[in-house]
Amino acid sequence: MNGACYVITGATSGIGAAVAARLLSRGESVVAVARRKDVLESLYGQNPCALCAAVDLEAPDATARVAAAVKGRFDAVRGFVHAAGFVVPAPLGLVQDDTAHRLFSIHALFPLQFLGWMAKRPNHADGASAVLVSSLAAHEGDCGNAAYAAAKGAVEGMLKPAAAELAPRGVRVNAVVLGVVDTPMARDTWMSRSTQEQIDARRARYPLGFGTPEKVAGVIDFFLGDDSAWITGQCLVADGGHQLT
Ligand SMILES: NC(=O)c1ccc[n+]([C@@H]2O[C@H](COP(=O)([O-])OP(=O)(O)OC[C@H]3O[C@@H](n4cnc5c(N)ncnc54)[C@H](OP(=O)(O)O)[C@@H]3O)[C@@H](O)[C@H]2O)c1
Repeated sequence: MNGACYVITGATSGIGAAVAARLLSRGESVVAVARRKDVLESLYGQNPCALCAAVDLEAPDATARVAAAVKGRFDAVRGFVHAAGFVVPAPLGLVQDDTAHRLFSIHALFPLQFLGWMAKRPNHADGASAVLVSSLAAHEGDCGNAAYAAAKGAVEGMLKPAAAELAPRGVRVNAVVLGVVDTPMARDTWMSRSTQEQIDARRARYPLGFGTPEKVAGVIDFFLGDDSAWITGQCLVADGGHQLT
């Protein structure tokens, strides 16, 4: 492989996997990043356009390891989508320090450092686009979500300065702010602890229904492509109309 690639984190599940599948379906080159090597191999191992990078993005050397994977096979990064993450709901008094550090590491510190790496590489200047994934959690008052919301707030906080710094190089940085998307993250956390009535009540506040990974991948793809070539530093809410209710 050579040429330019898309670095997609969270590629083993949910939104990241849907973005990677969409890019690969049209023959783009993808560096698929997540921890579970076996899942990466089963999803991407047979695809000549995909390169698997099994990296724990909470680790201090995460950016160096993803960068090494890119540099070993590609000349440049054309797109970066940071869709890896997790949530651990807990009331304020029960937020563990370790969990809070992990949340900030994966949601905020890794993309900050990876954008820093992109800023230092002159061959990313040609129309590269980065898309960060945020959450309505950073904008709403859901009890038990303060640590996750704070980490997502940090994602949105870095957006405009990073976009301003990278714009002269032709690199764009945008974010999607998501409502509920039906993925393993949602199913394994609040959905599994809710009754069907509670899930239905929440869905009723989504006029267009809960999101799907494929619908979100379409929004992210818009930010990756030339149709958004004049947009940078923006947060786009994709929430099925939830904020209208
Ligand atoms: N689903 C929703 O309702 C919702 C709403 C708003 C925002 N979001 C955001 O959307 C993004 C994607 O979420 P999703 O719903 O698609 O979640 P998901 O289906 O649970 O996927 C999470 C991905 O992150 C990877 N990951 C987790 N910890 C990692 C680590 N330490 N190092 C490397 N990779 C790691 C997982 O892969 P491995 O386990 O293989 O490492 C997996 O591929 C997240 O930022 C999430 O906060 C989701």
